[in-house]
Amino acid sequence: MKILNIVLIGFMSTGKTSVGKRLAQQLNWDFVDTDLEIEKINGMSVSEIFRKHGETYFRSEEEALIKSLLERKHCVIATGGGAVLNPENWKVLTQMGYVIALYAPIDTILERVGKSNDRPLFKSKRDEDERLLIARQPIYNKAELIINTTEMDVDQVVEEIICNIG
Ligand code: S3P
Repeated sequence: MKILNIVLIGFMSTGKTSVGKRLAQQLNWDFVDTDLEIEKINGMSVSEIFRKHGETYFRSEEEALIKSLLERKHCVIATGGGAVLNPENWKVLTQMGYVIALYAPIDTILERVGKSNDRPLFKSKRDEDERLLIARQPIYNKAELIINTTEMDVDQVVEEIICNIG
């Protein structure tokens, strides 16, 4: 396989972490979740980082972390939903490998998030969340592959990715 890394992008709760983990297992590659790495470095959860230091600080941590991944190979990288809004991150991530966007419509996302929402930018209010999804979708659509995950389970999404990267 010529692909160096696989980068998963997409809105919150589209399955980037679950799919990324399973995909990495199947390929026998490393798995990196940018949010988890930022949490490890800062010793607190993403929502605590937002509360204590604000979004600007989180975004600078996100940019530094993504930059630090540039030399990695054979890695599946699950990014936070807002990471690719930063053109610097987009540049690094597209340089690193094959970018795949996971998509789900707002109702599926609301269902998946359920009551256990600790994402600072997800309001669990249909209109507000849909507005954010619609605003971001053009950026996610720049991915080389877009997978609509509605009615697909994690294994099906992984299989679809493996079929596409051949
Ligand atoms: C964010 C998504 C979150 C996390 C942070 C900001 C966003 O990651 O990075 O709360 O801006 O969409 P997930 O997409 O993994 O929920």
